[in-house]
Amino acid sequence: MPDSAPAPAPAPAPQVRADLPLREVYDHPLGRDILDKVLRQVGVSGRWVDNPVVGRLTLRQLVRLTRGKVTHTFVDTLLGLLGAHPDRPLDDDAPITPAWWKDAVFYQIYPRSFSDSDGDGVGDLRGIIDRLDHLADLGVDALWLSPIYDSPNDDNGYDIRDYRAIGAEFGTMADFDELLESVHARGMRLIMDLVVNHTSDEHVWFTEALADPASPYRDYYFFRPGGATPPNNWTSFFSGPAWRHFDEEDVWAMHLFSSKQMDLDWDHAPMRAEIADMVRWWLAKGVDGFRLDVINYISKPPGLPDGDALVGELMGFTGVEHYFAGPRLHEHLRELRTEAFEPYGAVTVGEGPGVGSQLGKLLTGDYRGELDLVFTFDQLEAPGKDRWDDYRYRLDHLRDHYAAYADQWGNRYQQTVFCENHDNPRMISKVDPRPEHRTVLGKLIATTQLTLRGTPFIYQGQELGMVNQAFASMDELRDVESLNKYAELRAEGRDHAAAFAQVLAGSRDHARTPVQWDATEHGGFTSGEPWIAGDGDHAAWNMAAAADDPGSVLSWYRDLIALRRSSPALLHGSTEFTDTRRGRWVHRRVLDAEEVVVVLNLTDRVQKVRDPGPAYELVLDSVPGPATVLGAYGARVFRRGR
Ligand code: NOJ
Repeated sequence: MPDSAPAPAPAPAPQVRADLPLREVYDHPLGRDILDKVLRQVGVSGRWVDNPVVGRLTLRQLVRLTRGKVTHTFVDTLLGLLGAHPDRPLDDDAPITPAWWKDAVFYQIYPRSFSDSDGDGVGDLRGIIDRLDHLADLGVDALWLSPIYDSPNDDNGYDIRDYRAIGAEFGTMADFDELLESVHARGMRLIMDLVVNHTSDEHVWFTEALADPASPYRDYYFFRPGGATPPNNWTSFFSGPAWRHFDEEDVWAMHLFSSKQMDLDWDHAPMRAEIADMVRWWLAKGVDGFRLDVINYISKPPGLPDGDALVGELMGFTGVEHYFAGPRLHEHLRELRTEAFEPYGAVTVGEGPGVGSQLGKLLTGDYRGELDLVFTFDQLEAPGKDRWDDYRYRLDHLRDHYAAYADQWGNRYQQTVFCENHDNPRMISKVDPRPEHRTVLGKLIATTQLTLRGTPFIYQGQELGMVNQAFASMDELRDVESLNKYAELRAEGRDHAAAFAQVLAGSRDHARTPVQWDATEHGGFTSGEPWIAGDGDHAAWNMAAAADDPGSVLSWYRDLIALRRSSPALLHGSTEFTDTRRGRWVHRRVLDAEEVVVVLNLTDRVQKVRDPGPAYELVLDSVPGPATVLGAYGARVFRRGR
């Protein structure tokens, strides 16, 4: 990026040895992320390591004390990881380097479910063009499109068959060009989804590689000799082993996701060169940047060693410690940035499942030359829980997450702020599904997102207060992950009711039902049969009705986005959390003479709150009432000094 800050000399983290005490592991950026994650999983605070007895324990002693549950192999892997990420994130007080994407509000479109212009039941590019005024009115600055490339759609476009073609169901390249032009004409920007950890098994690189072992494409992927057992014990995120056996050729190939999403081998330079060339091709068309799918998974270690059983048990996936921060990750990102993004001034947002706060900083520091922004996911589930657990999410977790980031991420780093996307159930439903709280909760969630420092990403339908769907049977679900999960649970002996309940708790399909535009059939999404149906909720909850209602979640989003745009303190000010008691959230944003105070009630009960006093103007209030009390899930925003 032209606005990158000069690169100061990296500060190395401590040397890594097997007799390293836990305190020093915690002092290492990646060590801290890993320990935090493990401790979160078992429900223990990071402060545990501050206990002198615990802090002095060495990794070797840990193996003994856990009677081998923590293995020597795991310790070796951990030391290897620490060694592969030796830099310490810089925490000086450099000024913020300006960039458009630091001031922008992004909006994610899942094109398949956004708006269908031709009645085939699948959202498309012309449908998006038709709805651009809605997005401009909302006030968003940039759109991120989930994949619209040619794909057999095993994973709804995250399995790309041709990187340079538009999927027929979405329209044509001419439609795309018109969309890009129309977005720019409204003063907005457009970023694409870049899925380069894997391709579809129908991509010509893969079909040729499979058909001919001498093909130059053979080294683009992880092919391994056949036989009865997979080459290692890694598991797929979509159930079963991460290896597919091709019977005819008697060969294995790796897929971390569905069995039709084949992992690319980023150690192979000609493959990387083709990816960079493809990225330049899109940038030359004028797109403004990319969201990079599971980009932290691209570097796999030589030899593809087996995953550790304990990590597998804790994380639910085996092998992940070897590739969530692989040995050449930073190097590959720098190369792609220099070769493709930088010459075009393109913004990059990396999706980083498993990335913690410290690695996040190493991936995005303004002096690092890697990514601009990263999505990390710890805020989405409560400690010790995962997406398939059926539980009520307490907003205290969200507050604690952002309070920690406010402490740890200085001016050289810009966090992303989001709580929904196409891979997660709707946030309102996770917190409190009772209908009487829907509007206030929708507003509260919006307020957290739009008043913090960082770049907010709003997911389609969030602005309407969309909630999880009342799917009645497995037949109504579409997502490969949900279908595989159900089959896996049944194979493990779970009865239908239990398996269905678990799938419903975590299904990504909750976020993939059509956007509800009006009260007509299928919410005005399509004149045909939608590829996935909503549950009829659109009759009462739709954009047309919300647009005319000053008390709607939609109006609240509009007002908040306008406020954010007009407020240097909200965009760039310091952040201080001043009330973090259970059920409470107060933070202040300050820049020069301007101050914004945000007061939230995280509970379903009326709460006493402090009135900031007459010097402050109350600019937004989701539950109007006396100044010293705030209703269930209420949100107030005060401002002074402007
Ligand atoms: C992350 C994407 O967001 C998700 O939808 C997809 O299934 C996986 N990556 C695999 O591409």
